[in-house]
Amino acid sequence: MQSLYFFLDSSTAQAPLLICSFFIITLTFVVLKWSFLLHPRSKRLPPGSMGWPYIGETLRLYSQNPNSFFSIRHKRYGDIFKSHILGCPCVMISSPEAAKRVLVNQSHLFKPTYPPSKELLIGPEAIFFHQGPYHSRLKKLVLSSFLPSALKNAVPHIESIVIDSLRGYNNKTINTLEEMKKYAFDVAMISAFGNDMEIEIEEIKQLYHVLESGYNSMPLDVPGTPFYNAMKARKLLTGKLRNLIQKRREGREIGNGGLLGVLLGTEDEKENLLTDSQISDNIIGVIFAAHDTTASVSTWLIKYLHDNNDILEAVTVIQETLRSASILSFTFREAVEDVEFEGYFIPKGWKVLPLFRNIHHSAALFPQPHIFDPLRFEVAPKANSYMPFGKGVHSCPGNELAKLEMLILLHHLTTTYRWKVMGSNNGIQYGPFPVPKDGLPVALFPIKKT
Ligand code: HEM
Repeated sequence: MQSLYFFLDSSTAQAPLLICSFFIITLTFVVLKWSFLLHPRSKRLPPGSMGWPYIGETLRLYSQNPNSFFSIRHKRYGDIFKSHILGCPCVMISSPEAAKRVLVNQSHLFKPTYPPSKELLIGPEAIFFHQGPYHSRLKKLVLSSFLPSALKNAVPHIESIVIDSLRGYNNKTINTLEEMKKYAFDVAMISAFGNDMEIEIEEIKQLYHVLESGYNSMPLDVPGTPFYNAMKARKLLTGKLRNLIQKRREGREIGNGGLLGVLLGTEDEKENLLTDSQISDNIIGVIFAAHDTTASVSTWLIKYLHDNNDILEAVTVIQETLRSASILSFTFREAVEDVEFEGYFIPKGWKVLPLFRNIHHSAALFPQPHIFDPLRFEVAPKANSYMPFGKGVHSCPGNELAKLEMLILLHHLTTTYRWKVMGSNNGIQYGPFPVPKDGLPVALFPIKKT
């Protein structure tokens, strides 16, 4: 207090004070003007918190149920909010219209983005990592290989996998997730290589399993780590795939079907064939995309059927399972330039996350969203509100195969078995997709034929 009075009363001390005040005011003005130039009112960032410097809100996201993280912020800030996770500033989007703008109408402004370790493991030439002509060329080929008409020939093979597996479950307790992973993997192999499997396929399967154990590991390329082992397996796997490609190109192999057959048989308008590495990265990519996704949804399907044993219509049960489980809670895009979006400013390089789960669990779009109710799909959902397979140019080309797999499983399972969940029937684990706790152990009993 004394010093304050001293300054006020001393006329000789007033000159430095005035100069100092002048500098402070000028500096404040310059800073305000600068920040206004950077983010003028019409270019304000979305509401939300960026958390702590560098770590942002990452710890908050990973220390709680991710669904609560997103829904709390959605309630607090609205349909568009900002955050900072995994070292990246992001904008989260939970309105169907805004999600459609990111994924469809303005998709040229928002490119797909993945952690660099995913690209190293799957292969940089896989479809996910591309935009433009190379992406469209691949998309047409992958889609043509998974159209219902193309899948017709695979049905008896998928059925025989289901029937053989079910036979082995008689009066046993199984880990549903583990069994669904085996099923989805076997179907993925058929869709990648066709029904007539060559001798190399067994080794390819083994190597793929080592590779996939690196997908969710720390990207530490140090001997002994899962990531290092996965990268080593990838090298061997691409070697095996190249041998197979070579043999098929020379017509020395029995197999010619599956996605591999389609990729080998294609030329672009300049008669360019796809290269061996383009083919092998995309084969690995499709197996990756088809495996844990379908296995996780099929596990939920078995849980929901168990919990709601009066439901009958298979197609709506699958639709409701995809909505309720929303195993891909969101996807990632990155702004390729500064973007003006719904009255907000999204700076170049920021990640943009359409939150599929929030949209699928919005009470305004799906009344009583937490209730499993297949009947809601007797009326078509509102436009753009239902996107379990994404939307736009990068939407899932394997959706018909995934639904077919689930339908075949549903048919044979419900006509031959009844099942009981063992242990707790509640709880979710993330690995990385949300799945019922402990992989849903169930005991199966054959239906007594009368
Ligand atoms: C129930 C199972 C599945 C679900 C929920 C699912 C979901 C999705 C979603 C949401 C996307 C879009 C990602 C984005 O926009 O960033 C996607 C892309 C993709 N999916 Fe699936 N998927 C499933 C099964 C499959 C299967 C069985 C295959 C292959 C046979 C497959 C192959 C792909 C591929 C290749 C892409 C990338 C497409 C592109 O970048 O153009 N998926 N999937």
